[in-house]
Amino acid sequence: HAPDPALAPLAGRTVVITAGGTREPLDPVRYLGNRSSGKQGVALAEVALAAGARVRFVAGTMSVDPPAGAEVTRVESTQEMLEVVLDRAADADALVMAAAVADFRPAQVAEDKIKKTDDGGAPTLVLERTPDVLATAVRVRDSGGPMAPVVVGFAAETGDADTTPLEYGRAKLARKGCDLLVVNEVGRGLVFGRDETEVTVLSAAGDPPVVRTGTKAEAAETVLAALAGVLARRGA
Ligand code: CTP
Ligand code: CA
Repeated sequence: HAPDPALAPLAGRTVVITAGGTREPLDPVRYLGNRSSGKQGVALAEVALAAGARVRFVAGTMSVDPPAGAEVTRVESTQEMLEVVLDRAADADALVMAAAVADFRPAQVAEDKIKKTDDGGAPTLVLERTPDVLATAVRVRDSGGPMAPVVVGFAAETGDADTTPLEYGRAKLARKGCDLLVVNEVGRGLVFGRDETEVTVLSAAGDPPVVRTGTKAEAAETVLAALAGVLARRGA
């Protein structure tokens, strides 16, 4: 369909988009991972490219191909994603963290494949926190370091008895310090690997939340229109 005029400010901008899941090694052959398909990140990249942006695509583990026309860097662990993002986003206009980044990783990576022992026992995994890529990027930016001026986060949230997914999203937006947070309500088998989604875009600048239900391509248009609005307001 016709190009959306709301996306026009993306033309000529450089946007870093992370997508897919991270894999945290346990030994040379095993890892902890997640089921992220990478589809939302690919949809974002395709919309951004169609709007005339340059896309640097940081691909974790994905079940789909990275977008044609993007400059692709593949990563495995969260540490690798952090290093690539700090490099690729340093002189970019925006960073969009659509990747499903692991929160925990094995505290020790065995040098050799972990073997079974004769006593029938099993090892106990000790985990540690991974670095927070998004929070690190915001910290670099806020301390005047080389980092894209606009940072977009994603959050898959479930609600509970006291708190709605959007309330959790608002708190996360404030905690992370990003400009926009895209909240996906999850649970009930929604979202992971599916083509339909519902997103709510929350803005730190106080713009009213934007809700969109539809395909991941339609969600991507909504997210990028909000990003384009932030970029347009900041000028060149
Ligand atoms: N993120 C990141 N690095 C991490 C964890 C998350 O960059 N180690 C990014 C994600 O890519 C996403 C945003 O932070 O854009 C929010 O991720 P989410 O998992 O919702 O938030 P967490 O801070 O990890 O909190 P929790 O999972 O406990 O809700
Ligand atoms: Ca998390």
